[in-house]
Amino acid sequence: MADDRLTTVSKPAPPTRVLSGIQPTGRFHWGNYFGAIRQYIELQAVGESYYFIADLHALTTVRDPDRLRGLVRDAALDLVALGLDPDRASLFVQSDVPEVTELTWLLMTVTPMGLLERCHAYKDKKSRGLAADAGLFTYPVLMSADILAYDATVVPVGEDQVQHIEVCRDLAGTFNHLYGEVFTLPKPRLVEAGARVPGTDGQKMSKSYDNTLDVFEDLAAQKKKIMRITTDSRPLEQPKEPEGDPLFDLFSLVAPESQRQEMAELYRRGGFGYGEVKKALVAAALDHFAAARQRRAQLEADPGAIDAILASGAVRARAKAAAVLARAKQACGLSRLPSVVSSSAGGRR
Ligand code: TYM
Repeated sequence: MADDRLTTVSKPAPPTRVLSGIQPTGRFHWGNYFGAIRQYIELQAVGESYYFIADLHALTTVRDPDRLRGLVRDAALDLVALGLDPDRASLFVQSDVPEVTELTWLLMTVTPMGLLERCHAYKDKKSRGLAADAGLFTYPVLMSADILAYDATVVPVGEDQVQHIEVCRDLAGTFNHLYGEVFTLPKPRLVEAGARVPGTDGQKMSKSYDNTLDVFEDLAAQKKKIMRITTDSRPLEQPKEPEGDPLFDLFSLVAPESQRQEMAELYRRGGFGYGEVKKALVAAALDHFAAARQRRAQLEADPGAIDAILASGAVRARAKAAAVLARAKQACGLSRLPSVVSSSAGGRR
């Protein structure tokens, strides 16, 4: 029996549902880890969560099928080795949930061209004189479908993805305005220390700038990159402000707090060389990721386990995405009556 008193109670806040995606366009770098992956691991304790490897997005840059398959596998191994727990979070591959591409079309029909023209992935490529395909241009619509398909409320990301989440909110708002409350509006979640991790040249760390330090990089190669990090040419004895110095910022990410404070003191006192900081950074990075390296080696020895994790993640993700897609199709007039569908299927037999 309905309880009248309940009708006056305001609508409860939606449960926390976390979702994020990451492209398998190369091995994960510190920007991916400190900006996003570390949040995934922290948030898997909070509520229902979905994390996926964005192979459909990667198709706009990786054109070699074997390489793509290898990168997807590496991405899954890396995420689990870094602490993603498949019993608590659903880990899956984007293309294993075809409902998302269908939802993309529904959203495409409410997407203004001008909105996509302002998005930075497309604008950057165009400004560098490179030819962009429709996949890259419409990329924020696919990303919106990725998020909306799971009724996500929280999307942990680095700063560079915030614009895309705003597009997602815009599209969801327009669709809801036209067809009723179909989609849940998500919010980005950033962490202060990792929102914009600098690369070895001081710009944002990014595969496209070739300035990355990778999480599971060969140690000798990583040491070489660190020793070549660009620094300023101030004399040894001059005291320096640590914050905002890319080398110090990188050190802060991997070093324990006590070492970070000692290093900050050293900067302020002056009389040291950047070479010392670089050596300390090499050592701190090694320690920081040592346990994950070990776990990764163990996981690699059992290839079937990762396939099973991705398969069960996809089953859970599809169940959720199918329900949201059905809701959206119903709302905009695409779903047919069940009797019509079953009788026409019967007629074909
Ligand atoms: P992607 O694959 O470029 O990056 C994955 C995550 O890493 C973060 N990140 C950084 N954070 C801080 N500092 C940096 N230097 C840095 N570089 C990368 C990114 O912000 C991101 O969180 N479009 C997305 C993938 C995606 C997605 C989604 C994300 C597809 N669908 C739905 C969230 C929700 C991308 O290309 O991320």
